Amino acid sequence: MKPSTPAIAAAAVLMMFSSAGYAQDSGASLFQSRCQMCHGADGKGDTPTGKAFHVPNLHDPAVAKMTDAELAGVITKGKNKMPAFGTRLTSAQIDSLVAYIRTLQKQ
Ligand code: HEC
Repeated sequence: MKPSTPAIAAAAVLMMFSSAGYAQDSGASLFQSRCQMCHGADGKGDTPTGKAFHVPNLHDPAVAKMTDAELAGVITKGKNKMPAFGTRLTSAQIDSLVAYIRTLQKQ
């Protein structure tokens, strides 16, 4: 039996909604979906991918003393193995990520 086209279309729409629902604008959910695999949930980079890519600890004083604009610049343009997110995220999303990194640094 062939699956009906409307059923496939409905499934495709559902998938689109579920991924869009995940990509919310809050810094925390963006960090979980885009950054955590390298930087770790706590920003310490203590993940297998983080170690392989030599991801810095975001709590490190060298990162903590960077300005918000500098952090946003790295996220937008990338740096060495750090991917650039400027084409995938809006500047508002990048700002909320910078704000989220600041809350991680206080922990
Ligand atoms: C593929 C793994 C990977 C992903 C995904 C990733 N990063 Fe990075 N990130 C890196 C690496 C590697 C560096 C170190 C870059 C360097 O200094 O050479 C880094 C560095 C940084 C720094 C510190 C910059 C500095 O100058 O020390 C910040 C802030 C940062 N990332 C934020 C983010 C945010 C926010 C996201 C999600 C939008 C993200 N990263 C996603 C790998 C990643």
